[in-house]
Amino acid sequence: MEKISIQGGNPLFGKVEISGSKNSSLSILATCLLTDKKISISNVPKLTDTFFFLELLSSFGVEIKGLNDFKNAKKIVLNAKNITNNKAPYNLVKKMRASILVLGPLLARTGKATVSLPGGCLIGSRPVDIHLEALKKLGANISIEKGYIHAEAQNGLKGNKIIFPKVSVGATVNTLMAAVLAKGNTEIYNAAKEPEIEDLGNCLKSMGAKIEGLGTNRILIEGITKLKEINYEVMFDRIEVGTYALAVAIAGGEIELLGAKKKVLNFFLNVLETIGVKYVITENSIIFKRNSNSLNPIDITTEPYPGFPTDLQAQLMAAMTVSNGTSVITENIFENRFMHAPELMRMGAKIKLKGNLAIIEGVKKLKGAEVMATDLRASVSLVLAGLVADGITNINRIYHIDRGYQNIVEKLKACGANINRV
Ligand code: UD1
Repeated sequence: MEKISIQGGNPLFGKVEISGSKNSSLSILATCLLTDKKISISNVPKLTDTFFFLELLSSFGVEIKGLNDFKNAKKIVLNAKNITNNKAPYNLVKKMRASILVLGPLLARTGKATVSLPGGCLIGSRPVDIHLEALKKLGANISIEKGYIHAEAQNGLKGNKIIFPKVSVGATVNTLMAAVLAKGNTEIYNAAKEPEIEDLGNCLKSMGAKIEGLGTNRILIEGITKLKEINYEVMFDRIEVGTYALAVAIAGGEIELLGAKKKVLNFFLNVLETIGVKYVITENSIIFKRNSNSLNPIDITTEPYPGFPTDLQAQLMAAMTVSNGTSVITENIFENRFMHAPELMRMGAKIKLKGNLAIIEGVKKLKGAEVMATDLRASVSLVLAGLVADGITNINRIYHIDRGYQNIVEKLKACGANINRV
């Protein structure tokens, strides 16, 4: 089985081209299900998650140009002229939880969708009740049988007022896509404000959808019957930016992240300043540089956007293992998202876990070790730790990293890291 092997100690100097956003791409690719017109999407990152998602779409009868030569495709052209199947089976959904995002658009377009329940995963129980309640409000009949969600709306969906009990990115995406083709107006209250949802909304608007309030917690949608052909470019991946910025925090050096934009990173940039990383904004990039020899500790809680993202919690924890004090990280989104902590401790980190709190006492040095990747962000936090650890760190089960980081080994290597896939 492949591993990533890192000899720690090299600071990072160079430029990294930031890829398109994984989370934006997954929901934007699903918009093809809403129309019989062609949609052309560029800047889709070349990841196993995006590839699996395209395979799932193709199982519904979507014609896809760019899938055969995915690694080199500049754009992906999707045409869901004929939807021949509206069931997302367990074997595809279990590979990737984001498969649940096809439920809203399939139902809205065909009046029927069957999607396997995604189930829990290592980071938490991850229910989908908010998605289902919202679709019921739009008039769908929903039943759950033998692990499958059966959703039906033979006479189409109808707009309604929906108040989410909790901010959910996935439920906002599903409801937004379903409401675009519902009859009448839909109001979503307590909607997620993540930039990736704004990106999806902008894509839908360019297809002709009528949407207001993107980026706020109240989104208004006026249903329409037909959408049009488009070309759309996915936004940059802000979590990838955060990951490389934290790589500089931990390893030292100076790197320029091409394609990164300040607008959606404000909170994160404040966090970086607090821990001792300087940044300079240019027209098409952000340059990150560690200020001094040591990092400052921090006390932080993960929250929905614009707060600190749960998807950067593991990477920040890795950096804090070598800070000059004690940090407290509270994980507010998922109940079990500290799987990286025991692995970091195998490298010499001092971390105490109490429920959703992690108390990290900075140490002078981490030591290379054999460690195990458990999920996407946990895995990359071990890569960051490996960059600064004494000796060699071997990271096993790296297929998790390929789900969300395009060419990470090559990108870090180009900045001087001693890293290889073996
Ligand atoms: C979440 C993150 C997103 C991240 C993604 C992958 C937030 C708000 N969401 O999105 O930033 O990119 O994981 O790591 O930070 N919930 C329910 N019922 C539901 C749906 C969600 O109780 O039907 C709960 C979840 O268990 C969780 C919270 O709501 O505690 C937010 O979940 P949600 O935003 O839906 O998760 P993802 O869409 O996976």
